[in-house]
Amino acid sequence: MNRFENRVVILTGANGGFGAAAAKAFAAEGTRLVLSDLAEEPAEALTGLDPDRFVYVSGDVTEPTLHQELVATAKDRFGRLDIAVNNAGIAHPHYRMHEIPADMARKVIDIDLMGVFHALCAQIPALQNEAKAHDGCAIVNIASVAGLGGAPGLGIYAAAKHGVVGMTKTAAAENARRGIRINAVCPAFSRTPMAVDEIARSDLPTAEAETFMTRGVPMARLAEVSEVIAAILFAADPANGFMTGQAIAVDGGIGAI
Ligand SMILES: NC(=O)c1ccc[n+]([C@@H]2O[C@H](COP(=O)([O-])OP(=O)(O)OC[C@H]3O[C@@H](n4cnc5c(N)ncnc54)[C@H](O)[C@@H]3O)[C@@H](O)[C@H]2O)c1
Repeated sequence: MNRFENRVVILTGANGGFGAAAAKAFAAEGTRLVLSDLAEEPAEALTGLDPDRFVYVSGDVTEPTLHQELVATAKDRFGRLDIAVNNAGIAHPHYRMHEIPADMARKVIDIDLMGVFHALCAQIPALQNEAKAHDGCAIVNIASVAGLGGAPGLGIYAAAKHGVVGMTKTAAAENARRGIRINAVCPAFSRTPMAVDEIARSDLPTAEAETFMTRGVPMARLAEVSEVIAAILFAADPANGFMTGQAIAVDGGIGAI
């Protein structure tokens, strides 16, 4: 039997690089999915998913009502909720800390930090109820290595992602006896549109821009999307039952030096 057979998963940012890959990986392991993103329709990358086993809800993660709707959709459509992956997020162009425009800073905090906060506010009470009926309730917040240390040029992104790690640890401790595991996955630059677009914007040729971007990574390369998805599924896996409150670095060794 698949490790996620018949589990029900909420996943935000489902149209993006990690999101679409995570949706397909969860679906391949037997889950039913409530997918969400800004666009009206699911991305082309999601075609091929069994339409009876997923529902797509468009919306903005900065709206608390979206998260209530996602929880209600899981219950109404599939009768339960097991796992939530709070993945939607944006980065910002590189600026030194004191030069980041305030409206840009507010937007990043609103989406990357408050978006996860609103998600937790809807998901935790729902999962506390679910945990009375079944095991395997888990939340996975997608933070970043920028949530574990300074990120020159990405100061507000780093602040938001440190905040996600702080909320993850706090909520994990508060819910450890209530049957919900809550962990964060903290990738370094990975081969999704977020990093690939930044490479494309560089003045350097692609290969050199990639080398420059990964100059501080002991493995000297970007993460492949599948390597990050493996960590997300590991964090969500019901068999991984004693791990909570962790910020799991998927960083090619950055944290080792
Ligand atoms: N790619 C990387 O190098 C990298 C590294 C570390 C962490 N991350 C994090 O991983 C997560 C996913 O990023 P990705 O690389 O797949 O990027 P991506 O740009 O491919 O996908 C992000 C998705 O989030 C959605 N989104 C953005 N703002 C939203 C909003 N207000 N409401 C709802 N949805 C919104 C976008 O539409 C997009 O589909 C993000 O939280 C990001 O910060 C990415």
